[in-house]
Amino acid sequence: MDVRRGTFHVALLLFCVACGGTATGRQQGTRDSDAERRRMVETQLRARDISSARVLEAMLEVPRHLFVPEPERARAYGDFPLPIGLDQTISQPYIVAFMTQALAIEPDHRVLEIGTGSGYQAAVLAELAQELYTIEILVPLADRARQTLMSLGYRNVEVRAGNGYLGWPERAPFDRIMVTAAPDRIPPALIEQLKVGGLMAIPVGTFEQTLLILRKTTTGMETLRTLPVRFVPMTGKPG
Ligand SMILES: C[S@@+](CC[C@H](N)C(=O)[O-])C[C@H]1O[C@@H](n2cnc3c(N)ncnc32)[C@H](O)[C@@H]1O
Repeated sequence: MDVRRGTFHVALLLFCVACGGTATGRQQGTRDSDAERRRMVETQLRARDISSARVLEAMLEVPRHLFVPEPERARAYGDFPLPIGLDQTISQPYIVAFMTQALAIEPDHRVLEIGTGSGYQAAVLAELAQELYTIEILVPLADRARQTLMSLGYRNVEVRAGNGYLGWPERAPFDRIMVTAAPDRIPPALIEQLKVGGLMAIPVGTFEQTLLILRKTTTGMETLRTLPVRFVPMTGKPG
């Protein structure tokens, strides 16, 4: 996500108002990165409004530094997004936690993520859900994320290189959908592939974006507008 401007706004806003998976993460960590991760969870998440024990635990577990390119590793636990190559970014930890908490993921859920990027958000989701499907439009990023996730032992994740506007019909329906790139409008295929009662977190808009939390009902969608955000735009043909 991308925080360049929007996340900065989010961070400011947050400061103003006060702003089952594997155990492999810890095995891959060093003492330093474990300590940095604990500090990130305490100061950037718990001290704001992230209170879900499952989300905090997942963020403590996933070695964020292993998802960013080598030159960025020293800054991996900072309160900001980072470049991951090909003009894309890994989202600010707070935004990852906020969106994950908003989806209230249960251990038996099947979850779809659009915008794999580094694979970090996918790993956090995979800690919480039974099955995680994630789509990335840029093939080199999809390949690298798949490799990182596999090397960390995430066996409940499938990464596909493709256009997320179309969703993943063969794996639908989904209990939860998270979109981490911003479309102008909510892609109809994603609404179709969400279960009734299911939740979707999605940033919508062009320059000014709002993070929406949608609940699918038998008659349509209920919409909750949450934070102003700044994600990279969703690319590819919208259907
Ligand atoms: C802000 S980054 C996602 C960060 C990612 N969730 C992470 O944890 O690193 C947005 C990603 O969405 C991807 N993207 C943009 N349009 C897409 C589309 N139509 N389908 C799938 N991925 C898309 C971009 O290539 C980029 O990697």
